[in-house]
Amino acid sequence: MARTIENIVIAGAGQAGARAAEALRARGFKGAITMIGDEPHPPYERPQLSKAMLQSPDAPLAYIKQPRDWNETLGVRLETGTAAVDCDADRRIVSTADGGSFPFDRLLLATGTRPRRLAALDGGPLNVQYLRNVEDAIRFRRHIAARSRIVIVGGGVIGLEAACAAAKGGCHVTVIESEARLLARAFPALISDLVADKHRNHGVEFVFGATVTGSTSQSVQLSNGKDIPADLVLVGIGVVPSGDLAGRLGLPTADGIAVDACGRTAASDIFCAGDAALQWSRCHGRPIRVETWANAQNQAIAVAANMIGGTSEYNDPPWFWTDQYDLNIQVAGDMREADYIARGDPTSEKFSVIAMRGTEMVGALTVNAAKDMAMLRRIIAANAKPQRGDLESPGYDLRAAVEITMKAGEGDRQ
Ligand code: NAI
Repeated sequence: MARTIENIVIAGAGQAGARAAEALRARGFKGAITMIGDEPHPPYERPQLSKAMLQSPDAPLAYIKQPRDWNETLGVRLETGTAAVDCDADRRIVSTADGGSFPFDRLLLATGTRPRRLAALDGGPLNVQYLRNVEDAIRFRRHIAARSRIVIVGGGVIGLEAACAAAKGGCHVTVIESEARLLARAFPALISDLVADKHRNHGVEFVFGATVTGSTSQSVQLSNGKDIPADLVLVGIGVVPSGDLAGRLGLPTADGIAVDACGRTAASDIFCAGDAALQWSRCHGRPIRVETWANAQNQAIAVAANMIGGTSEYNDPPWFWTDQYDLNIQVAGDMREADYIARGDPTSEKFSVIAMRGTEMVGALTVNAAKDMAMLRRIIAANAKPQRGDLESPGYDLRAAVEITMKAGEGDRQ
C-alpha cells in the first residue's frame, strides 16, 4: 500500500530546494515541509553573485522569497546554518550537523555543487578565494574596491564574469586558462575569440595552456615557468557535485546523483534535482548534470510534483546566460561538436549560432539577441527539425519555425 506522505524533507536550500518547496505547496501538498541549508541565509539567487553583486555595493541579496514568508506564508520550516550530514534510509530520518533529526516520507536531495579546489594553492602564502556564496562575492568586491592585482584561475563563466567586474573596477587582471581558449566547455571557438577580444579591450591579460603550480606571498607560479604578480587569486575551475548525503545512502555520486526522467534516485522515495542531479539529456545524447539557474528551478518544480504522485518527465534543454561588458550571451542545448550555422553578422556583436547534428537542431547560442533565443529554445525543446536551408537564409523569420514546430506538436497529440 502506498505510504501516506506527511513529511517532506528537502536537503539543500538553494534555488532547487526553494523552488521545490514552493511547487509542493502550489500543487496542494498540505503536510510538513522542512528545508535544510548549510548557509546562514534563507534561499537566494546565485547568478547575481558574479554579476550585480560584484559591480555595485548597493546590490541587495536577491532572496527567492522574503525570509519570513517561508514560514508565515508557505508553512515551510527552514533550518539554516546547518548541513544535512546523514540519512537513515530504513528509518527515514535525516540528521543535521547541529544534532537535529528530521523524519521524512519523501526526501529531495537538492545539495547542489561546490567549487573544485585548486590543490596547488591550498595552504600557500597568497590570498586565495572561490566564488560560490554571498560572503565570497562581498570579499571579492572589497578587493576590487582596493584595486588589487587579481589573478583569476579558470576562463569559464565564473572567472570571466569576475574578470569583467574587476577590470571595470580598475584592477589589473590576469586570467589563467589551462585550455587553449576560453569557455571551451560549452561554447564554440568563435565566441571564445569574441569574448577574449572584449576582455583584452578592457585591459585583461590571458595566459592559455598553463596551470598553477604554487604561489609566493606576492605572485602565482605557473607550469610554463612564469610568475604572475598578485594580491589575490580567484579560483573558478568548475564545480563538483555535493554528494556526501547521497553517499551515506549508498548512491553512486562520482559524476552526480543519477536520476530517472522523473527525478527519482535508485533509493526508494528519495529524489534529486538541481546541479547535483545526473539525468539523461536528449540534446547531448548522454546523462549530464546541468549547472544552471534555469535547470535548478524548472527541474525542481517538475520533480516536486513527482514526489507527491505525479509522473511527469522533465526534459527541458539546458539554458543559461552570461553577461560580460556589453555582451549578453545565451546558450541553449548542446553547442559542442556540431555543424554551426551563423545567423547575422558575428562582427556586429548581435547574432546567433545554431548547432545542428544531422537534421536535428541540438543547440543555439545568441549574442545580444535574447528575442531569438526565446524562439530557439522553443524549437530545441520541441525536438523540431527545421530545414537547414531555411536557417541559413538571413531573411528567414524564426517565428515561422516556431509556428511549424507548434503545429507539428499539435498534430502529434491528435
Ligand atoms: P566552468 O566549468 O564554466 O569553467 C572552468 C574553467 O576553468 C574552464 O574553462 C576550464 O578549462 C578551466 N580550468 C579547469 N581547471 C583549470 C586549472 N587547473 N587551471 C586553469 N584553468 C582550469 O566553471 P566555473 O566558471 O567555475 O563556474 C562554476 C559554476 O557556476 C558552473 O556550474 C557554471 O555553470 C555556473 N555558472 C553559471 C552561470 C549562469 O548560469 N549564468 C554564470 C556563472 C557560473
